[in-house]
Amino acid sequence: MRLRTAIVSTALLMLGGAGVAAATDAASLARGKYLVEGVVACGNCHIARGAKGEPLFDKGLSGGMAFDDPAFNAVASNITPDMETGIGKWTDAQLAKAIREGIRPDKSVIGPPMPIAFYRHFSDSDLAAIIAYLRALPPVKNPVAKSRYNIALPPAYGPPITSVKSTPASNKRAYGEYLANIGHCMECHTPRDDKGMLQLDKLGAGGQKIPGPWGESVSRNLTPHPTGLKDWTDAQIIKAVREGVDRDGKPYKPPMGFAFYKSISDADMAALVAYLRSLRPQTFAGK
Ligand code: HEC
Ligand code: HEC
Repeated sequence: MRLRTAIVSTALLMLGGAGVAAATDAASLARGKYLVEGVVACGNCHIARGAKGEPLFDKGLSGGMAFDDPAFNAVASNITPDMETGIGKWTDAQLAKAIREGIRPDKSVIGPPMPIAFYRHFSDSDLAAIIAYLRALPPVKNPVAKSRYNIALPPAYGPPITSVKSTPASNKRAYGEYLANIGHCMECHTPRDDKGMLQLDKLGAGGQKIPGPWGESVSRNLTPHPTGLKDWTDAQIIKAVREGVDRDGKPYKPPMGFAFYKSISDADMAALVAYLRSLRPQTFAGK
């Protein structure tokens, strides 16, 4: 009995409540690194920023990027394991609930633009891998300003989640959809209504205007329509995502996380393309 308990507790760390089993092994850590530094790209928002918004790579995921919108002035949090200014004091279960459900240990709700609606899809094992990765980061002391919301945040983004099963990579289209969810592609590539809500009946139709220091970029139509990716080859789509250039080699503007996406594996890129090809064809939702 004793021996069994010992084996179980070293192989698996059962996290109370969330029911997430965090395999604290090298494979999980490597998976977390691959996801966070790739398709999930937490750093596209959480990388430390200086006073002029310039990325401070040596300060890692210690936050500070400001997002100004009529509805909010949000500031990305410090998600390094610093005890005072980061998430160092949070348990794995608390981190899991924050990332997948948008609820902090003090029960407050994490606001936009953190894409919680998409993060609700994280499988238990990928969530555990991401937490293992965050825990292994060097702690960075970096106090960031508090976000201000001019809108009422929802009490929650949905019912509590106990468990999310992994989608097998052998099911290419379904796995591609999973990757697109955890990469929150559709958060930018779907048009919004006048209240700022995603128009999910136009999933992937683009046309969202995204202002920033780069001026304004407009998200593209990713559906298999002539105004979207219908006439693009797989190789052209893959090049656009990984290298951030269009079919003529012209670089795209931010904020899509091309610098992260360059490390997406060939198999994962093929799954993403299979998913995009399966979307309902839609006319480009922009002008
Ligand atoms: C599109 C931008 C964006 C992305 C991508 C993003 N976040 Fe966030 N995140 C934010 C913002 C902004 C806040 C602060 C929101 C607030 O103040 O309510 C935040 C808050 C958090 C918090 C709460 C921390 C605290 O101290 O309150 C955690 C934990 C977190 N993010 C983890 C992650 C992880 C892990 C990822 C990748 C899986 C991620 N975020 C991806 C923008 C983002
Ligand atoms: C933070 C917002 C954002 C996210 C997240 C995002 N994109 Fe984009 N994407 C854009 C914008 C904006 C453009 C156009 C940039 C420009 O025109 O300079 C773009 C361009 C593209 C293009 C080029 C298409 C064309 O017609 O030129 C492809 C393909 C693409 N994105 C796929 C994806 C995929 C797949 C994901 C998820 C892994 C993703 N995007 C995530 C904002 C985003």
